[in-house]
Amino acid sequence: MLRVILPNPRPWLSPKITPSPQPLLRIDGIAVRCCSTGGEYSGQTAQNASAHHDEQAAGRIGRRVLNPEGRCKLDTSPDRDFYSLPRFVKHVDEGFLAELTELYRERLPAGGEVLDLMSSWVSHLPEEVEYGRVVGHGLNAQELARNPRLDYFFVKDLNREQQLQLESRSLDAVVCAVSVQYLQWPEKVFAEVLRVLKPGGVFILSFSDRMFYQKAIAAWRDSTTYGRVQLAVQYFQCIEGFTQPEVIRRSPQHHNKSILNTVMSLLGLSRSDPFYAIVAYRNFKQANLKL
Ligand SMILES: C[S@@+](CC[C@H](N)C(=O)[O-])C[C@H]1O[C@@H](n2cnc3c(N)ncnc32)[C@H](O)[C@@H]1O
Repeated sequence: MLRVILPNPRPWLSPKITPSPQPLLRIDGIAVRCCSTGGEYSGQTAQNASAHHDEQAAGRIGRRVLNPEGRCKLDTSPDRDFYSLPRFVKHVDEGFLAELTELYRERLPAGGEVLDLMSSWVSHLPEEVEYGRVVGHGLNAQELARNPRLDYFFVKDLNREQQLQLESRSLDAVVCAVSVQYLQWPEKVFAEVLRVLKPGGVFILSFSDRMFYQKAIAAWRDSTTYGRVQLAVQYFQCIEGFTQPEVIRRSPQHHNKSILNTVMSLLGLSRSDPFYAIVAYRNFKQANLKL
């Protein structure tokens, strides 16, 4: 069930983004696998769901990237329970966050409508830039209510239901910071991101090598750094309608130039967080358009 909370003092009543009390895509109770991924749905259910869905705008999933084992988590308890207590912490170091904010400064259009997917009490957006509206999504309402950049937010477990109650082609940008490793149905979530983006809109995904180990999916948890980048690239590529994803890597030396860090890096003992981002745009050309 979607829970919508309008934070004071800036409730947002945009007609463009209309939360629905009824989820459009129902997947609960169907084919729950060993690890309670809770997302497999039958063809019949998919057909019913798509009747409500904007087929023309939806990102089509060309293929599945993950197998059932890859979607499993060590901790199979509901994610809502794991995130029930707010964590007012930063999940990566300042060097990483400086890189991320700079990337947002370069790629997010000022004045645009932005969705911060899997957000918390911070969005890492450049302070001096004003956006039209920033919508936040996450699992902990207290964290989201504290986030000064959000005009509006909603709470939703994307491992239970992936559809975003946001209008198709309504956003200029979607960002998702240091969270993709927790998605058990990334293909469906990325398809939704494509759907809500305007043509030319940008999706910026970022991650490092940290994670809540027990809550990360096996395919991510058990992979290498190189493998995780490849996996994230495939999440984009499996959706018809994104441009070729651009991979941005910054070693810790890039954002932490202290002598201590340089020496530690040379010794292979750097403790700074490496920065990875994948950037792709919603293609202007409609996927599957037969000429
Ligand atoms: C490491 S935190 C990162 C938060 C934020 N993006 C940041 O940069 O500080 C991971 C976030 O993923 C979100 N998350 C984890 N599992 C989720 C799920 N099943 N559905 C929706 N969001 C989830 C939580 O809201 C949590 O805040």
